[in-house]
Amino acid sequence: MAVGCEGSDGGQPMFKISEKQVLAPGTMLFVVHAPMIASKVQPGQFIVLRICEEGERIPLTVADFDREAGTLTLIFQEVGKTTRLLGTLEAGEEILDLVGPLGKPTHIERLNLVACVGGGIGVAPVYPITREFKAKGCRVVSIIGSRSKDLLILEKEMTAVSDEIYVTTDDGSYGKKAFVTQELERLIQEGYNFEFAIGIGPVPMMRSFAKVTSKYGIPGKVSLNPIMVDGTGMCGGCRVQLWEPTKGQYEARFSCVDGPAFDGYAVDFRTLTRRNRQYLDSERRTREAAAASGGETSHGHNREAGDSR
Ligand code: FES
Repeated sequence: MAVGCEGSDGGQPMFKISEKQVLAPGTMLFVVHAPMIASKVQPGQFIVLRICEEGERIPLTVADFDREAGTLTLIFQEVGKTTRLLGTLEAGEEILDLVGPLGKPTHIERLNLVACVGGGIGVAPVYPITREFKAKGCRVVSIIGSRSKDLLILEKEMTAVSDEIYVTTDDGSYGKKAFVTQELERLIQEGYNFEFAIGIGPVPMMRSFAKVTSKYGIPGKVSLNPIMVDGTGMCGGCRVQLWEPTKGQYEARFSCVDGPAFDGYAVDFRTLTRRNRQYLDSERRTREAAAASGGETSHGHNREAGDSR
């Protein structure tokens, strides 16, 4: 049995939600009791959850964890049927099963200067990585952004684990009117000599991030969130194309087991965008059909939600 599946087959108490917060319109934070996963999870990893027997399985990145309390913090946007359903649960209610930790942890080592860049909901997975770099003794410069002020999340938390923090919004309603990647490039041009950078957010933001880090020769990782089904390398749903320099060609990798973090320069963002768009179109059609018949159904992955390139 996978770690964290203890509640899925015995009809026993499942994964209790101990806290619920609305962080921004449509963006929720849950603290969930899951001691086995909390004892092992590392920054950069994710879980797959299922709300009920008939429910679909959705991947969510782990935004925080407390090993002593045995809890995970999950942050998600209500973008489809499952995430909307999840958002209706209240503190004290339970989730049927949570499987994890899945994926490879982000490699974190002591470096002199690191940039942690988060756009939209991507600030959530950036947070534990930032905290770990800081704990390792790195000087951490964070850049976080969103489309507008009301959608910005975790500013206080990111400030607490950063030596410097810069905030942007696409519409200028808070912080600087800019994309996070423009702010990153400005800092690099001002002489910030980043030894490593991580950038997580919507695909267009990560594509821009990869361009900027490649342009200045900075090792930069992005964390991909394609469609996932099993989360264990069996279904192929999360396949992405990565440039393999030693072979001079793109090769397939599974985001759930080989990632979710990859070298930004190597990611074939065109294919990733095309595949995500296919699913988004099908989600939209399904949603429209369901709405027309008085119901609602769609996949619930947080792929393109939020913005700030
Ligand atoms: S989610 Fe099935 S292979 Fe990755």
